[in-house]
Amino acid sequence: MKLSLENLAVAFSDPQGGLLPALGPVSLAVGEDEFVCLIGPSGCGKTTLIRVLAGLQAPTSGIALCDGVPIARPMRGFAIMFQEANLMPWRTVLDNIALPLEVAGVPAANRYKTVRALLPLLQLENFDQAYPAELSGGMAQRVALGRVMVQEPQVWLLDEPFGALDALTREKLSLELLQLRSRTTQIIIMVTHNISEAVLLADRVIVLSPRPGRLVADVRVDLPRPRFPEMIYERDFLRLAKRIRASIDEISG
Ligand SMILES: Nc1ncnc2c1ncn2[C@@H]1O[C@H](COP(=O)(O)OP(=O)(O)O)[C@@H](O)[C@H]1O
Ligand SMILES: [Mg+2]
Repeated sequence: MKLSLENLAVAFSDPQGGLLPALGPVSLAVGEDEFVCLIGPSGCGKTTLIRVLAGLQAPTSGIALCDGVPIARPMRGFAIMFQEANLMPWRTVLDNIALPLEVAGVPAANRYKTVRALLPLLQLENFDQAYPAELSGGMAQRVALGRVMVQEPQVWLLDEPFGALDALTREKLSLELLQLRSRTTQIIIMVTHNISEAVLLADRVIVLSPRPGRLVADVRVDLPRPRFPEMIYERDFLRLAKRIRASIDEISG
């Protein structure tokens, strides 16, 4: 599968009746199995970009394509996750993760079987009957991640998925994401503000300018896989992180 953005731009109408440019124009091609991190200042259009790819926001000009087909509505094989876990408080962990299967009409026995197979990977084995109020922030995000994985998506759209977590939980969960992902290969597009996280996880880090976000750097992360937390102290890692830092500093003046 291949995603491409061709001169994609989004503008929103402002209260004065004008147009507020929110994103772009950006052109970008994401290939088979790439893990791409997007970094850019607050309000530069990252969420808008994710929403366009998810088929939830129409571009004002340009186009987003999946295997050459314009993305005009939510597409099969795409799953999206936000900063907030958005769990249903009245549903157990099991039923929260199973929700996409339920919506798709999968019979209860089959969906529970699928979800139960995922629980050990998510480290939620003993929490299948727990309710969201009983979970820590990290666990809630694991449930949200489970809800993505259960769909077996080919494209994961992750909008600051760990942004609300404390630093240690965040680091742990992002490394878990790598392990979960390495079992199968998919395109992942993840928004993050954290340079180290981006370099540690991604094949490519895209830096966007302040609103309307344009592409200011496209840095290939040629570190070997599997990745380990200790890599953040290595010279090659620091070289990449510095390069990204510099391109961010350049645009923020
Ligand atoms: N539905 C909307 N209507 C009007 N303006 C919006 C809407 N969504 C986002 N914006 C504006 O577009 C810009 C980009 O927003 P967003 O994509 O959420 O940025 P980011 O995720 O990078 O912080 C911001 O200025 C935001 O206020
Ligand atoms: Mg955002």
